[in-house]
Amino acid sequence: MCGIVAYIGNKQAYPVLIKGLKRLEYRGYDSAGVAILNGDMRVYKRKGKVKDLETYAKDKVTRGSVGMGHTRWATHGKPNHINAHPHVSGNERLSLIHNGIIENYATLKEALIKLGHEFESDTDTEVLVHLIEEVQKREQLPIEEAVRVALTKVVGAYAIVVIDKEEPSKLVAARKASPLVIGIGDNEFILASDATPIVEYTQRVVYLNDEEIAVVNKSGDLQIKTIDDKIQTPFIEELDLNIERLEKGDYEFFMLKEINEQVKTIADCMRGRINAAEGWVNVGGVTEYYERIANAKRFIVAACGTSWHAGLIGEYLFEELARISVEVEYASELRYRNPIINEDDVIIALSQSGETADTLAALELAKDKNALIYGIVNAVGSSIARTTHSGSYIHAGPEIGVASTKAFTGQVTLLTLMAIHLGYKRGTIPRSYYLQLLNSLENIPSQVQEILDKNDQIQYIASEIKDATNALYLGRGYNFPIALEGALKLKEISYIHAEGYPAAEMKHGPIALIDENMPVIVIATNHSAYEKIVSNVQEVKARKGKVISIVTEGDKAIKEISDYCIEIPDTDEPLTPLLSVIPLQLLSYHIAIMRGCNVDQPRNLAKSVTVE
Ligand code: AGP
Ligand code: GLU
Repeated sequence: MCGIVAYIGNKQAYPVLIKGLKRLEYRGYDSAGVAILNGDMRVYKRKGKVKDLETYAKDKVTRGSVGMGHTRWATHGKPNHINAHPHVSGNERLSLIHNGIIENYATLKEALIKLGHEFESDTDTEVLVHLIEEVQKREQLPIEEAVRVALTKVVGAYAIVVIDKEEPSKLVAARKASPLVIGIGDNEFILASDATPIVEYTQRVVYLNDEEIAVVNKSGDLQIKTIDDKIQTPFIEELDLNIERLEKGDYEFFMLKEINEQVKTIADCMRGRINAAEGWVNVGGVTEYYERIANAKRFIVAACGTSWHAGLIGEYLFEELARISVEVEYASELRYRNPIINEDDVIIALSQSGETADTLAALELAKDKNALIYGIVNAVGSSIARTTHSGSYIHAGPEIGVASTKAFTGQVTLLTLMAIHLGYKRGTIPRSYYLQLLNSLENIPSQVQEILDKNDQIQYIASEIKDATNALYLGRGYNFPIALEGALKLKEISYIHAEGYPAAEMKHGPIALIDENMPVIVIATNHSAYEKIVSNVQEVKARKGKVISIVTEGDKAIKEISDYCIEIPDTDEPLTPLLSVIPLQLLSYHIAIMRGCNVDQPRNLAKSVTVE
């Protein structure tokens, strides 16, 4: 993953870089570093967060109007000062930052060592800067050409920026399978992994394509070439990004802000796509390819993590409402399995970031097999959004907290809209039920607010179970994926081991874990199979498990046998995931805070997983 940012222009580079790195810190926070050019090249790097780097560089010289910075999520080599980026060439002329993995680094390293290169770090990245140095030395090329020739020998994924001390008025950048955006200001350029460090300086951007190299210079010139040496015309786009949405406002953590934003983000996702009073729903991307989508033999959902959980809800929705058969695949498995994908399949890629390497690769594979690729993405202009044939943005706005919350409900909202749209047009749901679903869907944002208003109660329950070492989440039907999602949220931010299970599966194994120390969170808002869930809760109680239930307002049977009970408003069953996930997000948040965890930047994780 890693976040990269670079600046060239008339301003002081350092403050721009630090601010940019803070925005990109969601991508990794193992170490941070900068290189600043001002006659000399000064490189400062530190293990830890950007603020550690800032403290370290406080009394150092940081003047200069050309520079670059990096915040790392380690793939090769421990997170320490030495492995931190930027990496510098042996002759100390070049420095480089990198997001991605150089897969053939070991072979390249061996060859370079034979040529006399000495390496300091354990990273794959350092090999790249030495390789460019070697090409430059041997072929006496300008830096952009040396980078281009070196990259023809590289296998892997990268977004890089290179500074050459001897050519101080330019920056060279390149990308393959890792994102890179170039912001074009007045005689200045800001390059970054995403647009968030750029937005306050300019709205004009170019998204670099795969296998392209860009050279930007102080006189305001931008040139783009492909790695095989073809000149490209830059395609300039206007950003649509609001700075306020990148700040925490009055909240202590982005995660809490984002949980609370869901009232608005779910409504934003529906805006212009549904009108219950007029009785219509229209998802643009579906309409555009209606024949292929409605006649698809099957949908294959490809996603990772939380997005995969949203995809699983999609399976229940499409099968029930539109009678289309669905398979939900972990993108990482799909791509390496030699899967059967046909022209009449539709691949739905779900991704908040739109940059997840595994999801992107699964799409490429499906594209080669001529299936229609549909993207459900949050980050506008991201790689997945640009790879698909058709798709829909969920309009949740930037999600910064590593634990996904508002993007999840955005994805589920969009899948729900698609399923209702297709179900109605295909004639698989009657008009009366269709209209009822539209009405219920429009009520969801205010019902989310009602749940958010129960924050104090949820915080109290969190205080009662915060010291657990294990937790079990159970749900059936539409609430099974919610059980998985609730468990993932708890694991990633509070480091409590948690498992999500279909409630009925508990007796096939996990029931062995239950004792008086085990909180069991039961999501039991279902109308169907309600009696069965009551029995499942009884089974937990019989083994002294501590039951926290999420039930529909007015519930009696489960409430009576639960230790703690959170009531949520009633809705149609296919829409319950949009409500039942909210208390689970808050529960994990409060538990993590009580355990002293940094919920926005949990250990070992990064927001956008652009490596395999
Ligand atoms: C969510 O809380 C996770 N941090 C993670 O599972 C995430 O959903 C996954 O990495 C997929 O990311 P994407 O939606 O950006 O593709
Ligand atoms: N492979 C590089 C490293 O470990 C970059 C990692 C990344 O982009 O995630 O330092």
